[in-house]
Amino acid sequence: MPVTRALPMPNAAQPPSPVSPGRQRRHTLPASEFRPLSPQDAASVFEIEREAFLSVSGECPLYLDDVRHFLSLCPELSLGWFEEGRLVAFIIGSLWDEDKLSAEALTRHKPQGTAVHIHVLAVHRTFRQQGKGSVLLWRYMQHLRSLPCVRRAVLMCQDFLVPFYQRCGFEVRGPCDITLGALSFVEMQCPVRGHASIKSLTFPLFHNPLLAF
Ligand SMILES: CC(C)(COP(=O)(O)OP(=O)(O)OC[C@H]1O[C@@H](n2cnc3c(N)ncnc32)[C@H](O)[C@@H]1OP(=O)(O)O)[C@@H](O)C(=O)NCCC(=O)NCCS
Repeated sequence: MPVTRALPMPNAAQPPSPVSPGRQRRHTLPASEFRPLSPQDAASVFEIEREAFLSVSGECPLYLDDVRHFLSLCPELSLGWFEEGRLVAFIIGSLWDEDKLSAEALTRHKPQGTAVHIHVLAVHRTFRQQGKGSVLLWRYMQHLRSLPCVRRAVLMCQDFLVPFYQRCGFEVRGPCDITLGALSFVEMQCPVRGHASIKSLTFPLFHNPLLAF
């Protein structure tokens, strides 16, 4: 016996749409989407930051105005991961033109710089420990390779995250010159040219977003 699928009844209040069902589906939010952020995403970014940093240490890599500032100046150096339209993880970067990070790097975008300073990588708390931070960083590094001016990515992190970034291809440069209150940091970097081949990284290959890049 042929199996028939029940079709939804047309809504009496609205005329049937003239477009095909295939075209209608385009209006649904994609399950998983990666895209650069814009200033309109600043509130969602800061909501994740508030929980990830402010509530933990009282310090925050970027406050709301800083987020808007960088997303206006250099949105191409950001990347957001959206699940069904909701921001679940993001990276924000800007260009830096000196060998080491200094306090000025926290607020400046230097358009002539060849280093991308990754100000912040954060994953919404309900999506952590699922590989999202690693995959997003990998995709971000791949994206940087398409920007001709970029030679390396640099970041500062607390001691406990050094192994995480090492697994993502970053190397330790030494203690960072920047301190925030009682917090000290390690400076790390990753070359962008000719690096980060898929074989050299330890991310699980079963992650679809990684393979789909
Ligand atoms: C750090 C962070 C981005 C990692 O993203 P994630 O999606 O949870 O990480 P993944 O699932 O890809 O990888 C998990 C690994 O990250 C590391 N890690 C994550 N959080 C950690 C923590 N609080 N302490 C130490 N290592 C941590 C561990 O190595 C962990 O692997 P393990 O569980 O086998 O030890 C995320 O936990 C986060 O947003 N934390 C709060 C904000 C933050 O600290 N951002 C980084 C500084 S800018």
